[in-house]
Amino acid sequence: MSKSVLVTGAAGGIGRATVRALAERGHLVYAGVRGADAELAALPGVRLLTLDVTDPESVAAAAEQVGPELHAVVNNAGVIVQGPLELVPPGELLRQFAVNTFGPVFVIQALLPKLRAGHGRIVNVSAPTAYLSMPMLGPLSASKAALESLSTALRTELAAWGIPVVMIVPGAAETAIFTKAEAAARTSLAAAGSRTSLYDAHLAALGKMSAGQKLAPVQPVADAVVAAVTARDPKRRYSIGGMARSAPLLARLPSGLRDRLIAGLMGLNGIKAGGV
Ligand SMILES: NC(=O)c1ccc[n+]([C@@H]2O[C@H](COP(=O)([O-])OP(=O)(O)OC[C@H]3O[C@@H](n4cnc5c(N)ncnc54)[C@H](OP(=O)(O)O)[C@@H]3O)[C@@H](O)[C@H]2O)c1
Repeated sequence: MSKSVLVTGAAGGIGRATVRALAERGHLVYAGVRGADAELAALPGVRLLTLDVTDPESVAAAAEQVGPELHAVVNNAGVIVQGPLELVPPGELLRQFAVNTFGPVFVIQALLPKLRAGHGRIVNVSAPTAYLSMPMLGPLSASKAALESLSTALRTELAAWGIPVVMIVPGAAETAIFTKAEAAARTSLAAAGSRTSLYDAHLAALGKMSAGQKLAPVQPVADAVVAAVTARDPKRRYSIGGMARSAPLLARLPSGLRDRLIAGLMGLNGIKAGGV
């Protein structure tokens, strides 16, 4: 019998590549999506599941549709909420944590009985910002740091059943997540009115950094998820790309040096803002 795996956020860049890679290796893949997806539905070995990770009722309904034994759950759904923290609307902060942090917990809680039955494992998709909090990406950084923290607690709690909890840490990869984040940030900043101009220099620096960002293909990330799902004894963390590997090391620098380095990376050094 093929081993079954549930992937959340399956319609996105990393999710879609992961579903495809797992199905090609003969897994039965439950692909969690929020809308119709003819391309995923047509793949052999793939079953679409309607799944909004922020809604416990949607999660419970999806869990019902999964067979009695699950080999792995891949918590991949995620969003980026960006911008100066002063101006991020409460609803956007809540959305950031609902999707990236609490959603994975809802999914894990609902599926643990089936993971136990299937001697399964949990694979959570993190980010370098979990280790290195970035200015203008405060909500994202905090949501992924919290996901790491919850995952660390869970790993020890579930050791009694031999259920591994694995983190995937992708560097910047070419998906639509950045354009969606920019669109959401534009709406938030428009609602913030004249205070937005206080951050003109910061926003320009963020725009420049984003435009210059080198985005890697998604396939190595999907391959790392496959490795995490299939390894007999998976690693605790799979880091893909230079930034993913260096972020935990940079996080250990003395805080003053680290802050200056990060400000430099983001082009924020030397900004002297006026206004009140
Ligand atoms: N791309 C990168 O550079 C990068 C780097 C580090 C970490 N990551 C992480 O990788 C994961 C996948 O991101 P991606 O780059 O592939 O982004 P993506 O293409 O935007 O895909 C994200 C997926 O999450 C889904 N999603 C959003 N809100 C959801 C909700 N409430 N319930 C269920 N699904 C929801 C989206 O669904 P819809 O299609 O319905 O909106 C989409 O399918 C995320 O956790 C992200 O933080 C990405």
